[in-house]
Amino acid sequence: MKMKQISNNSLANGSYFPNMRLRRLRKSKALRDLLQETRISTDDLVYPLFVEEGLKTAKDIASMPDIQRIPPSKIVDVVSEILDLGIKGVVVFGIPSKKDEAAKSAYNDNGIVQKSIKTIKKHFGDRIVVISDVCMCQYTNSGHCGIVNDTMVDNDSSIEVLAKIAESHATSGADIIAPSAMMDGQVFAIREQLNDAGFNDTSIMAYSAKMASSLYTPFRDLANSIPTFGDRKTYQMPFTNSLESLREIELDIKEGADMIMIKPALPYLDLICKAREIFKLPLCSFSVSGEYALIKAAAEKGWISETDVMIEFLTSIKRAGSDIIITYFAKKMAKVLLEK
Ligand code: PBG
Ligand code: ZN
Repeated sequence: MKMKQISNNSLANGSYFPNMRLRRLRKSKALRDLLQETRISTDDLVYPLFVEEGLKTAKDIASMPDIQRIPPSKIVDVVSEILDLGIKGVVVFGIPSKKDEAAKSAYNDNGIVQKSIKTIKKHFGDRIVVISDVCMCQYTNSGHCGIVNDTMVDNDSSIEVLAKIAESHATSGADIIAPSAMMDGQVFAIREQLNDAGFNDTSIMAYSAKMASSLYTPFRDLANSIPTFGDRKTYQMPFTNSLESLREIELDIKEGADMIMIKPALPYLDLICKAREIFKLPLCSFSVSGEYALIKAAAEKGWISETDVMIEFLTSIKRAGSDIIITYFAKKMAKVLLEK
């Protein structure tokens, strides 16, 4: 069938060009594959690892299907599996057996994260990039990301502790320190302490624009880090604010960040896109627990295809401008890519 002829008039004013048919580019799967603009590779993916002190066998978490807290004895198996899938990065979260006011177990050289990093580095060396999450919420009684004075999370005493945690992670062999507490000046304090201790080559991936998001709930079950009072809105940034997110990123860069992060990912593609245009550093997006849980729950009900939605979400996060994606789907996505 012929397409309706368009008058010369409308051609001349550029409003319509009848010979241009974008469907030509979509004729076959092979052609679509050839012309695909955004591609994800396993090189882009980082898998979050949750290691619990004193645990004997892996523990399921109801709100995070297929994600487990693992015992220290399983680390080598889990990382081997990740490497076999072609994934090159993990972010390590620790669940300590003891919490206190001062988050002491967070900077203990024999703490759960420190031991985990040592185990990974001893077995796999530079074959895997170890990113360590630097925060206090799993380690404080309050479940807050900093030191609580009376009822406030105190900024300046908190950054001192964060710097100590960072140094102990670097000492254990972490490649990248990722401070996630959203305390002002945390990147500078960490950079100084790392340099003073001789860790000039340990880089910092700043959780720069970390929103006070409701999408972290499953993570807090997983990491045992629910705040006992209040919320995190005095330190995590308001999700309504785009300019403020750029200021957060800018400050972290000035303080010495080597890489920046936006978190969560999917509802903040506009910020990822803007940050990619403005800043020249590697940009990481953290697709958080709630993003994962939404897909898992809807798929379990049979309402969506888990695999297809996963691919669509992750590709969109990449298309918006992310260089690196931290995702609970890393293993599943890697399997899809291997089978392709
Ligand atoms: C806390 C921290 C959070 C996440 C990682 N580190 C959020 C929070 O509890 O406020 C969220 C990750 C996720 O939801 O997957 N420092
Ligand atoms: Zn925290």
